Amino acid sequence: MGAIIWVVILLTVSPCLFLVVHIRKLRSSNQSRRITVLKTLGQSELHDKKFVGFFHPYCNAGGGGERVLWTAIAALQRNEPNVISVVYTGDTDAAKEEIIDKVKTRFDIALSPKTLHLVFLLSRDLVEDSTWPQFTLLGQSLGSMYLAWEAMSKLIPDLYIDTMGYAFTFHIVKWVGGIPIGAYVHYPTINTDMLARVKSRTKWHTNSDTISSSSVLSGAKLMYYRLFMYYYALSLRTASFLMVNSSWTKNHIDAILLLLKLLQPGGPGEARIVYPPCDTREMAKFSLEGRERVILSVAQFRPEKDHAAQLYSLHELFKAYPEYTKAGKSQVKLVLVGGSRNAGDAARVEGLRALVKELGIEQSVEFVVNAPYSLMLDWLSRASIGISTMVDEHFGINVVELMAAGVIPVAHASAGPLLDIVVPFHGQPTGFHATTPKTFAEALHKVLTLSLAEELALRQRARTWAVQRFSQEEFEKGWSESGWKTWLPS
Ligand SMILES: *[C@@H]1O[C@H](CO)[C@@H](O)[C@H](O)[C@H]1NC(C)=O
Ligand SMILES: *[C@@H]1O[C@H](CO)[C@@H](O)[C@H](O)[C@H]1NC(C)=O
Repeated sequence: MGAIIWVVILLTVSPCLFLVVHIRKLRSSNQSRRITVLKTLGQSELHDKKFVGFFHPYCNAGGGGERVLWTAIAALQRNEPNVISVVYTGDTDAAKEEIIDKVKTRFDIALSPKTLHLVFLLSRDLVEDSTWPQFTLLGQSLGSMYLAWEAMSKLIPDLYIDTMGYAFTFHIVKWVGGIPIGAYVHYPTINTDMLARVKSRTKWHTNSDTISSSSVLSGAKLMYYRLFMYYYALSLRTASFLMVNSSWTKNHIDAILLLLKLLQPGGPGEARIVYPPCDTREMAKFSLEGRERVILSVAQFRPEKDHAAQLYSLHELFKAYPEYTKAGKSQVKLVLVGGSRNAGDAARVEGLRALVKELGIEQSVEFVVNAPYSLMLDWLSRASIGISTMVDEHFGINVVELMAAGVIPVAHASAGPLLDIVVPFHGQPTGFHATTPKTFAEALHKVLTLSLAEELALRQRARTWAVQRFSQEEFEKGWSESGWKTWLPS
């Protein structure tokens, strides 16, 4: 008996001891590692240099999250010459110069190689969905912790900022580096909507048929989600500052932070909204005058975009105001511009075409599938009204683009378009909201009957607002107001 206890103690204590010794070693080698990094950057003075680490394993992906990362780093490089930006990435197939070049061509952001260092991570596989077909959330989270361990083993920064939503890495970073942590959160890893779907046993892409149809499995999954949310809250509370990309994300993150406020006071009270920068330069050049009576929809042919609702709205509009169908000056046309990514999307487009026939509106609807970017810009420069029917869209960059182009938006009254985008500017509207085909039709009619002066003022207001609020300057201001700098050691 005694022997077994000793074996158990030995088996648990020795790995712990090993880790503690290893972490000591990592911390004490940290200075020499930094000197090596500075040498590769062609710099020599260590004493006044601070290192800010950005955890972004897919830094070369070229999506919206990457625009946020690189815009933040470019601003840092301009304003803080003594800060070295360290990006932890798993893009081992690209060299630093290639990544910098791609950022330039993709986002038109110029990065200086002198204050940017990339730490390449070899175990990114551990955070891929495909590595964890079951228990994806848990698997990816554990994987990200290992990835953070690899990151910290290679270089410990002075401040760690996660820009991809890997909150579970915070524990590792705190433990290994003992440094302050911040994050820019695009999307909460787990949210109350996901819990609600399991609870109400709704089928969804995160909730399969087998689970939603069994009460035992649903119960087990609910427990798993609740536990997961508890640990997620615990992770978020170890951060010193949190930024989020929208009101929707803020509501979820704040609710999760609140969960543990009593148990674990301190940490960030709430998240700060810093809208991501949108590149609206092209669209903001279009003339606001001489627009055609075109209602424009710009959205991939995905189910949640609900293109059918747009067709029903047009049908309602024509039912109430048949003059819009007559050839001539008052004729109104709906143009659906969008990408079709796969067979599912293509079938959806066919279904929509059939619906157009069924509603008898063939003369007034045009589909523009997989058009090049330049053609989409062309439609944006000609259209009068923009329509967006997706329910609970977290943001809606397409709506921002419509507004920047001077197209008056009529958007579903929910989430991003309601809370963040189509909101009054100086107390005056920048567009309209609706919920049903009938109310969409009324809103469309309202825009179509504006006086020329009102119409122009509205186009101008929508543009000014969208361009200003979602600009790079606003983003940089929000980032600096997050107080990240106060967490750097002096
Ligand atoms: C790493 O080294 C730097 C520079 O010598 C030092 O300021 C910092 O506190 C060290 N960090 C850790 C976690 O030991
Ligand atoms: C925030 O990030 C999520 C996830 O990438 C995205 O769906 C949403 O559109 C983003 N919001 C903004 C304001 O860009």
